[in-house]
Amino acid sequence: MYGMVNKAIEQMVVMHHGEDAWEKIKVKAGTSIEVFISNEPYPDELTYALVAAASESLQVPQEKLLHAFGEHWILHTAMQSYGGLMRAAGRSVGEFLSNLPNFHARVSMIFPKLKPPRFECSDITEHSLNLHYHSDRPGLQPFVIGLMHGLGKMFNTPVEVKQTQFKHQGHTHDVFSVVWA
Ligand code: HEM
Repeated sequence: MYGMVNKAIEQMVVMHHGEDAWEKIKVKAGTSIEVFISNEPYPDELTYALVAAASESLQVPQEKLLHAFGEHWILHTAMQSYGGLMRAAGRSVGEFLSNLPNFHARVSMIFPKLKPPRFECSDITEHSLNLHYHSDRPGLQPFVIGLMHGLGKMFNTPVEVKQTQFKHQGHTHDVFSVVWA
C-alpha cells in the first residue's frame, strides 16, 4: 500500500500515544524505515505488521484499532489532505456512498499504482443501502466499519453499520448494511 497509509497509522498513534510509543511499534514491526513516503508503494505486509505491533504494544485489539483507523482516515487523512476530492463526492452520507464505487478511480489519477478495494451499492433507499466490499486483502472489515462511522461524523449524521455477509464464510465478498438518520 502507498506510504500515506503507514503515515496515517503513525499520525493516529502519535496523536494519542506520543512519538516514543510509535518508535517502539516500528521496532516491534521489524522495520527500520525512518520516514514513510506518501506516494511510494510499500509491501502490504509492512502495514499489517505495523497494525499487529501497535495492537500488541498499546494493548488494543486489532479490530478496535482498525475501526479507529477508519474514522481517522476520513476525518484526519482524507479530509485534511484531499478535502476537495471528498467534498466533490457528495453532500450527504447517502450521496457519498452512492458515489463510493467510483471514488478510488479518481484517487488512482493521483496514485497510479493504487490497488483499491471495489465497492458496489444495492438496495438503496433514502436512509439505507447495502455496501458490497470486494478486496483481496484479508481482515480489513473493521476498517470499513470505521470508515462508515467517519463519514457519519463528517456529515454530522448518525450512522449504523452491520456486516450481513462474510467472505470468510465462503461468500464471494463482504456485505454491510448501512443505515443513516
Ligand atoms: C481522498 C480520499 C482517499 C484516498 C486518497 C484513498 C487512498 C487509498 C489508498 C492509498 C489505499 C491503499 C491501497 C494502495 O495503496 O494500493 C486505500 C485503501 C482503501 N480505501 Fe481508500 N482512499 C480514500 C478514501 C476512501 C474512502 C472514502 C473509503 C471508504 C469509505 C476508502 C476505502 C478504502 C479501503 C477499505 C481500503 C483498504 C484496501 C482494501 O480493502 O483492499 N477509501 N485507499
